[in-house]
Amino acid sequence: MDVVDTIVAFRSRLDDARHHGRHVGLVPTMGYLHEGHVSHMRRSATENDLTAVTIFVNPLQFGANEDLASYPRDLGRDAKLCEGAGVDLIFAPPVEEMYPEPMLTTVSVDEVSQRMEGRARPTHFAGVATVVSKLFNIAGPCRAYFGEKDYQQLAVVRKLARDLSFPVEVIGGPTVRELDGLAMSSRNVYLTGDERAAAPVLHRALQAGVASILSGERSAAAVAELVAGIIAAEPLAELDYAEVVDADTLAPLDRLHTGQEVRLLAAAQLGRPRLLDNLGVRVR
Ligand code: PAJ
Repeated sequence: MDVVDTIVAFRSRLDDARHHGRHVGLVPTMGYLHEGHVSHMRRSATENDLTAVTIFVNPLQFGANEDLASYPRDLGRDAKLCEGAGVDLIFAPPVEEMYPEPMLTTVSVDEVSQRMEGRARPTHFAGVATVVSKLFNIAGPCRAYFGEKDYQQLAVVRKLARDLSFPVEVIGGPTVRELDGLAMSSRNVYLTGDERAAAPVLHRALQAGVASILSGERSAAAVAELVAGIIAAEPLAELDYAEVVDADTLAPLDRLHTGQEVRLLAAAQLGRPRLLDNLGVRVR
C-alpha cells in the first residue's frame, strides 16, 4: 500500500491503473477511521481491482464555530486499518495541496441540501459537494463508496454526480453500529462516559418509529413526534430534528402509503458532538 500527498501523484496512479484495464474504487474520508469506513474499503476491494482511500479533513465543510482544529487525526493508525482492509493507495493531501489559493468556486446542490443538516449547518453541504467534486475530478472514472450513516450527504453526492455527469458510480453502504446500536462516528470519541451511555437513544427512537410504521401508523407527523419524544426524554440529549421523509428525494411526507420507501432521520446534540442517525423502512 502506498501513501501519496499530491494531486499529480494520485491522479497518475489511478490513470495508470485504468490504462491497464483495472477498475478503481474510491472511499473518501476525513480519517480517524473506524469499522464504518472499513466496511466501504472491504466492499470496494471485492468489487474493484484498485481501492483508493482519501483522507482529508476538509475545512470548507466546517462552520466557523465547529471542530475543524480539534477534529481527531491519526494517519499512522489510519494507514494500518487501510492496509488490513485491502486498500492499495491512500491520498492524504495537506490543505495547501487541495486549496493552494482561496476557492472562488463552490458546488452547491439545492433542495436536498436545505433541510435537516442543512438548516443546522448552512454552509456544510456546499463544502462537502465542493470537495467531493474536486476528489471525483482528481480520481477520474471509478466507483465511489459512501455511508448511509450520513444519509442526506449520500443524497447530495448522488445528485451532484448525476447533475454534473461525473464518470462515477456512487454506491451507498449500510451503517455500521456499536453493539448497543450507536452508529459509529469519528466524533464519538468526544462523548464522556455518561453521554456514551445515553447515545444509543437515537437508534432506539428511530427503531420505535420504524416499528410504529410497521404496525400500521400512517401519519408521518405522528411517527416523527414519537421519535422526537423518545430523544427529548433523554436529559443529556438536545433534540435538533426528527423527520420522516421520502427515501429518494428526502421530501417531507404527510400520509404514508403502502409500498412507499421511507427514511426516518434524527439529530441531537449530546454534550460536545452532534449525533446523527437514520433508518429506512418500506411501508406495508
Ligand atoms: P467521514 O465522516 O470520515 O466519513 C467518510 C465516509 O464514511 C462517509 O461516506 C460516511 O457516511 C461513512 N461512514 C461514517 N460513519 C459510518 C458508519 N457508522 N457506517 C457506515 N459508513 C459510515 O463524510 C465524510 O467523512 C466527509 O463529509 C467526506 C464525504 C469525506 C467529504 O469531506
